[in-house]
Amino acid sequence: MIDLDANATTPLLDEVLDAMLPWLRDGYANPSGSYRTAKLARKAIDEARARVAALIGADPEEVAFTGGGTESVNTALVSLDKLAGEGAAFVSAIEHSAVIRCAEHLGRETRRLPVDRGGRLDLAALRENLQDAAFISLMMANNETGVIQPLAETAAAAKERGIPVHSDAVQAVGKIPVDVRALGVDLLSLSAHKFHGPKGVGALYIRRGLRFEPLIRGGGQEGGRRSGTENTAGIVGLGAAAEAARRDLAETAERLGKLRDRLEFNLLETVEGVTVNGDRAHRLPNTSHLSFAGCDAAGLLILMDEAGVACSAGSACMSGKQQPSHVQLAMGIPPETARTSLRLSLSKRTSEDDIDRAADHLRRAVEKLRRVQGPGVGPVVVYTP
Ligand SMILES: Cc1ncc(COP(=O)(O)O)c(C=O)c1O
Repeated sequence: MIDLDANATTPLLDEVLDAMLPWLRDGYANPSGSYRTAKLARKAIDEARARVAALIGADPEEVAFTGGGTESVNTALVSLDKLAGEGAAFVSAIEHSAVIRCAEHLGRETRRLPVDRGGRLDLAALRENLQDAAFISLMMANNETGVIQPLAETAAAAKERGIPVHSDAVQAVGKIPVDVRALGVDLLSLSAHKFHGPKGVGALYIRRGLRFEPLIRGGGQEGGRRSGTENTAGIVGLGAAAEAARRDLAETAERLGKLRDRLEFNLLETVEGVTVNGDRAHRLPNTSHLSFAGCDAAGLLILMDEAGVACSAGSACMSGKQQPSHVQLAMGIPPETARTSLRLSLSKRTSEDDIDRAADHLRRAVEKLRRVQGPGVGPVVVYTP
């Protein structure tokens, strides 16, 4: 299988698996214990914390481990909701469902801020309405389009009014530089499996001095910020993935950016009616979001799967659903075009050969769909093999 669905998840790096294995086998002691093996587990967790902190420019004490990105986001929003004063929860219209669904559940007004045609937050709209905000949650990079958001500008505007800011940086961390101090955010969520770490483990950055209430209460682990016996192997895996990401960040970003551009160039050259969506000047290097005029994405996905290529229409959680994604609609992409869009996303494992073969398969899939429908790139057709 050629895997071009890295924004859904990524494979473990060998070095990550190697780091985790001892903690799955013999290093099973509860890190809260007072004996030697427990202390070793505690030490491994603290090392992982330092590695994650180094990746995002935080101090280790500002990092709490969670059971993944969704839990990290929920923890942040629930804490903000409990401690913030009156006002609305401001989120961008293109947030992941982890943010949108959680915000809508809080019981206060949720205001979805518009984005421009390129998929970036409309800063003017934010500034005009800021007096109504209790807190803000703005993703750092979008999972579908890869478009990087004006997070530092948002945080700076919010700070003037004392409004706290959370960022869902699940798609950004490990792919582009993330520095919580330079960004000026109060809370930031990340998830290991998006950058070659294990699933079910993530972290929440909590700025020192920020008032915070835990979502999960119990034995008081993670300094009381997230109770529950620590997932030592998972946390060590996250730490190893963070270390590898930090070490290779610039090189990987450059390599993947070139591969992504090669893929787009190839498709734009050889296939009629291809559109690259999203602000090309502000994109994750690994993500390409494309529309193929007249080709239903569901049909393309079937043909690509048959050809041995994994990719996605919209975000992973939307695959299989025929509704155009809220992200594309918010960008003003018409529903009929939105239904023709694919997301192709690359990881450290992606090779040039993968890219060239995938582009070839995609060209043939588009041609086949259009043959079924007849010449030209007319209305949307749903292909059933
Ligand atoms: C932007 C974004 N936020 C949050 C999540 C959820 O992370 P997790 O799968 O670790 O719960 C995802 C995963 O798809 C994501 O892309």
